Amino acid sequence: MVANNRQNGDFHPSYLYNPELLVGLDWKSVQHSLKPSITNEDPGEDYFLVRPLRIDDYDKGFLQLIVQLTTVGDITKAQFEAQFLKMQKAGCYFVTVIEDIRHSKIIGSATLVTELKFIHQCGNRARLEDVVVNNTYRGKQLGKLIVLTVTLLAKKLECYKMSLDCKDPLIPFYKSLGYMLEPGNANTMILRYESKL
Ligand SMILES: CC(C)(COP(=O)(O)OP(=O)(O)OC[C@H]1O[C@@H](n2cnc3c(N)ncnc32)[C@H](O)[C@@H]1OP(=O)(O)O)[C@@H](O)C(=O)NCCC(=O)NCCS
Repeated sequence: MVANNRQNGDFHPSYLYNPELLVGLDWKSVQHSLKPSITNEDPGEDYFLVRPLRIDDYDKGFLQLIVQLTTVGDITKAQFEAQFLKMQKAGCYFVTVIEDIRHSKIIGSATLVTELKFIHQCGNRARLEDVVVNNTYRGKQLGKLIVLTVTLLAKKLECYKMSLDCKDPLIPFYKSLGYMLEPGNANTMILRYESKL
């Protein structure tokens, strides 16, 4: 199976990737991480909707959410849309959000990025990026829900592994979701380039 956003056929162009990909994820394999049990298709409250990022999410507070994660900068709607379309065309970006449909507001997000490899029989590697839940919605398992959703999506896309970088205090959070610090292989090294941000 090729990990790309068109899998399962064409989809409405306002979505970053095919929403059908979120149907039937393997929640049985991770249910021990969630009490009470929730899934992307049954997120516990009928006003939560887990779905791919949409091009109109600029107007639903997506940037106001991710600014809780790190510096975002002043991004116009045109810049947001241009970046969205580049990601959609690339086919390997699976930005997944939780919307509170009562307020038409994006309140959680996580990004799965897939990377084509030559190694591992031309395999697909997955990375988890930019996990955030709006501060007034934290502590309700939504962080676990959005991380597990993209984790299971990577499994469905037949990625051979998924990795993430996080600050030390969040290690227990990710461990509770199945991520591990592999002995001898748990280092992140960084070289930062000068940036205006
Ligand atoms: C990390 C984050 C996504 C968790 O979202 P959440 O909806 O509150 O998480 P959940 O309710 O699903 O899970 C809560 C569990 O994670 C732990 N946890 C959550 N945030 C934590 C933090 N900042 N530090 C340490 N532990 C944390 C809680 O102690 C709780 O553990 P428990 O299940 O043993 O009680 C949220 O705190 C957030 O957006 N933080 C700011 C952005 C950030 O740091 N993102 C991660 C980048 S790697």
